[in-house]
Amino acid sequence: MPNGQAGPTTIGDAAFAKISALAKEEAGLILPTSKVTMVQSRLRTRLAATGLTTYEAYAKFVSSPEGAAERRMMISSLTTNVSHFFRENHHFEILRNAVIPRLLARAKSGQPVRIWSAGCSSGQEPYSIAMTLLDAAPDFAGLDTLILATDIDTRILEKAEAGTYSAQQITGVPEALRGKFLKCTDPDTYTVTADVKRMVRFRELNLLHDWPMRTRFDVIFCRNVVIYFDTATQDSLWPRFEAALQPDGWFFLGHSERISEASQTRFSSVGMTAYQPVATSPQTTTA
Ligand SMILES: C[S@@+](CC[C@H](N)C(=O)[O-])C[C@H]1O[C@@H](n2cnc3c(N)ncnc32)[C@H](O)[C@@H]1O
Repeated sequence: MPNGQAGPTTIGDAAFAKISALAKEEAGLILPTSKVTMVQSRLRTRLAATGLTTYEAYAKFVSSPEGAAERRMMISSLTTNVSHFFRENHHFEILRNAVIPRLLARAKSGQPVRIWSAGCSSGQEPYSIAMTLLDAAPDFAGLDTLILATDIDTRILEKAEAGTYSAQQITGVPEALRGKFLKCTDPDTYTVTADVKRMVRFRELNLLHDWPMRTRFDVIFCRNVVIYFDTATQDSLWPRFEAALQPDGWFFLGHSERISEASQTRFSSVGMTAYQPVATSPQTTTA
């Protein structure tokens, strides 16, 4: 454990600059100076956990090779994990009405169906996808259908995998689906059913790094994730998402996210922040 120096418990300019540069380099996260108070409060527990007493000492430690494990904890503390069941419900309507009939036909003809929730946070997004699939067609449970749910933050992935939520957290789940897909396991605790869990695989994945998946996805949800990245990072991701999608796949972004002008030729808009690859795009490459 490194020895910190005694000092004020407010973050100085140099420490903030070091930490924000690391957050961008490691995870693409943009932390402008307007976020200084947020960074200070989110990292306070990390100072306590490492036994360091100043942000300067902490910034130095996480920048060093010995600080690699703590760097991951720092990124986990700096990510924003807010999520809800059936968030931006218009995407689940598109999924149910336009996408699922095609996916079901594909699965019934023996082809795999693959959906990716990129930046899945605490699991509400992939579980909402699984509930929508199973509600529309219970047959999906016996077909080759999988939802890959990835996030950079391993601590939030543990919560996601548990699939346990408070009464307040499940308010977004439509009444008709609650009885089917959530079990009340304690007075204020609801757990997603085994059928729903079986459809989802959680994995750690940093979107800035290589994507090891060799399959193309029928649907990709990457919502409320790239909003934390700058334009250059976002621009580096659009062609990769296009390459990771089936030519007739679907791509959903968060309500305040847009594909940059330079990449707009790759995708057609097919609804509110809903896209499909332009089939004839000459830039199409394989994953
Ligand atoms: C606000 S949550 C969005 C959750 C969900 N998609 C939704 O819309 O409700 C953003 C998630 O993106 C993840 N994230 C941030 N940077 C990432 C990166 N470089 N690679 C993968 N995930 C990242 C965060 O850990 C966080 O869980």
